[in-house]
Amino acid sequence: MVVSTCLVTGGAGFLGSHLCDALVARGHRVLCVDNLDTGSLVNIEHIRVPEFSHINCDITEPCFIDEPVDFVYHLASPASPIDYLRLPLHTLKVGSYGTHHALGLAKFKRARFLLASTSEVYGDPQVHPQKESYWGHVNPIGPRGVYDEAKRYGEAMTMAYHSQQGVDTAIARIFNTYGPRMRPHDGRAIPTFLRQALASRPITVYGDGSQTRSFCYVADLIRGLIGLAESGYHEPVNIGNPDEFTLLELAEAVKEATGSDSEIIFEALPVDDPKQRQPDIGLAREVLDWSPEVSLREGLHRTIEEAGVEALVG
Ligand SMILES: NC(=O)c1ccc[n+]([C@@H]2O[C@H](COP(=O)([O-])OP(=O)(O)OC[C@H]3O[C@@H](n4cnc5c(N)ncnc54)[C@H](O)[C@@H]3O)[C@@H](O)[C@H]2O)c1
Repeated sequence: MVVSTCLVTGGAGFLGSHLCDALVARGHRVLCVDNLDTGSLVNIEHIRVPEFSHINCDITEPCFIDEPVDFVYHLASPASPIDYLRLPLHTLKVGSYGTHHALGLAKFKRARFLLASTSEVYGDPQVHPQKESYWGHVNPIGPRGVYDEAKRYGEAMTMAYHSQQGVDTAIARIFNTYGPRMRPHDGRAIPTFLRQALASRPITVYGDGSQTRSFCYVADLIRGLIGLAESGYHEPVNIGNPDEFTLLELAEAVKEATGSDSEIIFEALPVDDPKQRQPDIGLAREVLDWSPEVSLREGLHRTIEEAGVEALVG
């Protein structure tokens, strides 16, 4: 295997830290660029090898790196609704200036660039499941617009750097992913349900719980991201688990995995909450030979085992 230097923006976050782990395990040198806005040194403190270093830099500002870089994985961005509703301008800046600087770095270093985009580019989709060819249904001025449009803009800029500047780019459209190191209070469904179930508190489901989501275990997702980065493919690729569950089914699965007898209660739906989400992963199967291997049941058990009850209850 060729040993590469990989720069991971957002490397101290949930997905970024798992990506750093996987790249280090493959023998690569890893530069983790993270200003710790929503990430934490706790996520990377176990990586104690000379091939790994953390650079505290805000990617909305230019970031200078002395050594050669082969891959730039651009993951820096608030990602949970709680974070991007709290940091709306920062979210827009990291999607625009941040992506611009990360792409500039990749161009300067002649590195392959991967944008961590999102299924949110499809908004509240009117096509189901979502293929990469679907353009989406996004409310640009709704509360989620700051995140969705930042990512859509990031995709546009990535394609422009590719077509106009010749940068070798990739775009991963990541669907809901879960696993150890999610923050218990980050507002996303799985950490919230796990926290509530493990503390024997009521599990709060929005609406009537009939809205659907597809949940990918983090190890599957990271394998897909690395596969895409190493593939040479340029068009957007969905990476997610196509097994679709209603939120009510998810709450039941969490109760079963935790052995909890928490009651399930219902609360008002947030504004612009998508009614359904399911990736069509035909393209990932075809060009990356990738598909997820971990079921929701197994992934929940692995999350509880690896994270530990204390970390999940917060
Ligand atoms: N987790 C998911 O289910 C999911 C789904 C779709 C897309 N994504 C994308 O994957 C990426 C990582 O998501 P996550 O769940 O790990 O979120 P996270 O909040 O855990 O990680 C984001 C990281 O980016 C860092 N960061 C934010 N702004 C920065 C800046 N200006 N400069 C440097 N670092 C900065 C944060 O400190 C944090 O460590 C995001 O781009 C997100 O949009 C995640």
